[in-house]
Amino acid sequence: MKKIKLRVPATVANLVCGFDILGMAIHEPYDEMEFKLLDTPEIIIKHKDSFDLPEDPSKNVAGIVLLKIQENLQLTNGFEVTIHKHIKPGSGLGSSAASAAGAALGANALLGNILSKDEMVHFAMFGEELASGVRHADNIAPCIYGGITLVKSTTPIDIIPLNAPDLFVTAVHPQVEVKTSDSRQILKKSISLKSAVEQWGNIAGLVAGIQKNDIPLIGRSLNDVIIEPVRSILIPKFDEIKKESLAMGALGGGISGSGPSIFMLSETKETAEKIAVLMKTIYDKINIESYVYVSKINPIGIEVIEENL
Ligand code: HSE
Repeated sequence: MKKIKLRVPATVANLVCGFDILGMAIHEPYDEMEFKLLDTPEIIIKHKDSFDLPEDPSKNVAGIVLLKIQENLQLTNGFEVTIHKHIKPGSGLGSSAASAAGAALGANALLGNILSKDEMVHFAMFGEELASGVRHADNIAPCIYGGITLVKSTTPIDIIPLNAPDLFVTAVHPQVEVKTSDSRQILKKSISLKSAVEQWGNIAGLVAGIQKNDIPLIGRSLNDVIIEPVRSILIPKFDEIKKESLAMGALGGGISGSGPSIFMLSETKETAEKIAVLMKTIYDKINIESYVYVSKINPIGIEVIEENL
């Protein structure tokens, strides 16, 4: 029987100023997904974790992606997937994107790599749509491509893989609930030209900084004048964590995806680890449990751990 086991990483979307268009893969946390190719057309979803996610394939983020692939390619085969999630749903660390991108890549490997990366992104976006109502690819793209990606467009799919600077990421996930759908609903539907111009400068500066490996330019560009001022209100201690992380030497950072996780980029592991302690201490003081992760930017994205193809 053909089978494959994947390590599917967390991702940080938006990268502060690039709402819905920029994202990066990190190393920790990650999900594990094991796929078997079946001779019969069923899609079977099993979970090894305690998140109580639906196992009906049409209601499951990985399941819907597999159903779309099966339908579109008119497959007579089915798939069995066992998912062990470590990326908590609703964390802002790309949990749904990991399940969706993992499903697309796992199915593709079992089918003999017949899909391009962009086709995998296309199918994986059905999973994001199920999870949040929106077909965005800013978490899916770095999961599939690795490193940092720019989603220039989703219709048609136009993904630009960018360089992955040698930086450290500290991410904290406070245990408070912020639903992506809610944190999208509170956003303003229109913005001033002044704010738009400022944001375009930041996004262009960030992409240029990443491509030129100009670390100070990356730091200067990690500013969001549109989304962060609205969403940060939903995240306890956001302003304090950001201010103190910058004072400790972080290059910059902000909300990870739609929150509640917060991330910071640093040039050294030492600074990234000091910021991890700071984040945890701030949440401990107000009795909010939190998980903190320190890792480098992950240049590979999804990795195959075992295969029998
Ligand atoms: N770009 C998305 C948002 C990521 O910020 O709403 C969340 O999944």
